[in-house]
Amino acid sequence: MASVHSLASTVNQRVADALSAALPEAGAADPLLRRSDRADFQANGILALAKKAKANPRELATQVVAGLPTGSAGDVIKEIEVSGPGFLNITVADRAIIETLAARAADDRLGVPLAEQPGTTVVDYAQPNVAKEMHVGHLRSAVIGAAMVEILEFTGEKVVRRHHIGDWGTQFGMLIQYLTEHPHELDHKHGGPEEGEAAMSSLNRLYKASRVLFDSDEDFKARSRDRVVALQAGDPETLALWQRFVDESKIYFYSVFDKLDMEINDPDVVGESGYNAMLEETCQILEDSGVAVRSDGALCVFFDDVKGPDGNPSPLIVKKSNGGYGYAATDLSAIRDRVKNLGASTLVYVVDARQSLHFKMVFETARRAGWLNEDVHAVQLAFGTVLGKDGKPFKTREGETVRLVDLLDEAVDRATAVVRSKADKVGLTEEEIVENGRYVGIGAVKYADLSTSASRDYKFDLDQMVSLNGDTSVYLQYAYARIRSIIRRAGESKPTARPELELAPAERALGLHLDRFAEVLSEVAASYEPHKLAAYLYQLASHLTTFYDQCQVISADNPPEVVENRLFLVDLTARTLHQGMALLGIRTPERL
Ligand code: ARG
Repeated sequence: MASVHSLASTVNQRVADALSAALPEAGAADPLLRRSDRADFQANGILALAKKAKANPRELATQVVAGLPTGSAGDVIKEIEVSGPGFLNITVADRAIIETLAARAADDRLGVPLAEQPGTTVVDYAQPNVAKEMHVGHLRSAVIGAAMVEILEFTGEKVVRRHHIGDWGTQFGMLIQYLTEHPHELDHKHGGPEEGEAAMSSLNRLYKASRVLFDSDEDFKARSRDRVVALQAGDPETLALWQRFVDESKIYFYSVFDKLDMEINDPDVVGESGYNAMLEETCQILEDSGVAVRSDGALCVFFDDVKGPDGNPSPLIVKKSNGGYGYAATDLSAIRDRVKNLGASTLVYVVDARQSLHFKMVFETARRAGWLNEDVHAVQLAFGTVLGKDGKPFKTREGETVRLVDLLDEAVDRATAVVRSKADKVGLTEEEIVENGRYVGIGAVKYADLSTSASRDYKFDLDQMVSLNGDTSVYLQYAYARIRSIIRRAGESKPTARPELELAPAERALGLHLDRFAEVLSEVAASYEPHKLAAYLYQLASHLTTFYDQCQVISADNPPEVVENRLFLVDLTARTLHQGMALLGIRTPERL
């Protein structure tokens, strides 16, 4: 189906046409239409245009109004008047609101257009590290990244997911050496719901034990170093042991992603090791082209504006003086792979803001090398730190990083209690209570993360997250379930658009907000700001609350067509909530 023009864009176009008729030299000038409290919309652009043309703004505004006859039956614009020094206040016809929404409702995509010229975006997100516990930072990358993937895909973009897991590095020498000397350390029970936990706890034990040995036993340390050499040389036995660490860790990662109600597919997991074969070539190209230079034996890239605390330039090290490759060489090789082999036009990295300097240098290096250019660009969707209730970086009382699984389990427990406290009223079975508890708890964690701008730090506060009032996912989920229950109770009456009806103010406000969905999505996709979608959905639920206060849906006092039209409005609201929440990775249970 063809995309639906929003009322805002239709009105904007009509005012723009009248404007260029009144002031031909302005060309295709934008009247800058905004939602307004006084009328439905206000056009703010006339003042500046008049000033530029040395015309009187009020006169120009009056001419524009004269060029827009209103009042006939098919008109979108119902009223337009000049206000203040040269603004226009515009009210649209009730009929136009319902007709536009009916066109949205007739479309599975709710009238959201597909990009005309989609590109290919590679999203680098959900990238935990092998043999290490996942923490709240990994949660943010996973949640924000998954939302961006869904949003971009929905707008028609081709998306390739990449989970750049930390699966390479010198620490594997120590781990593998320990495993050869204690071959049963990774054994655990396979299968069952606790398998992920079992895998992680044996990895944890092994990690700690090998560390202790490494720090206290010089001979073990030497054997571990030899292991690193063997690993890098591709010794088959060593590689097989390394693979065991990766496989065990993946069992654990997948169990966490599963808890998060998130689908991660094996072919998309391309860790640091996936670029090993490219590292040497990457360095060669950089050195040959002069982008990188030798400095104290290391291969480095320098930047005028990047200096260390001593004031000396602090380079990006692509190859260490001992011949080893680090994080930068891997990321630069990954860029080459993503651009050349995956055909990416955009690279998005959902990574902690504390890695911003790394990415700044990596991107700049890739630009100098020509891998990034006008047609291919890279952005870091940098996120802030997760803080505890006390506003300090989130730690346990013992000062350790909080285990992600513990947090998620607690969120689900609390949410289940909330769901249970209301379950009788709705008549939920025990099975539904458990399922909804999971959707509400995990939804709460995701929403809290997605509802503030990613770049800001945010407080991990479970009490606030599962609260029924305020800007929480639970509030939105209840809004959805309430509509579904109204529609179930409506019996014979079905949601039907009735454009002939006059609308109450709360109906108009709800309708105009519904009409913005497509525009909000395209903005969110372009700016990589999922929190704006969360804000839109929260406002939608708030409009709905006001609507309920002022308008009864099912009532013996309402003529049948009013019931149908109101059912139509709430049904479209439910579909919009459902779609929007799904894009954020949050479920909307039918009964809550
Ligand atoms: N594994 C890294 C970490 O835990 C994040 C990887 C980010 N992605 C990348 N291409 N460097 O911090």
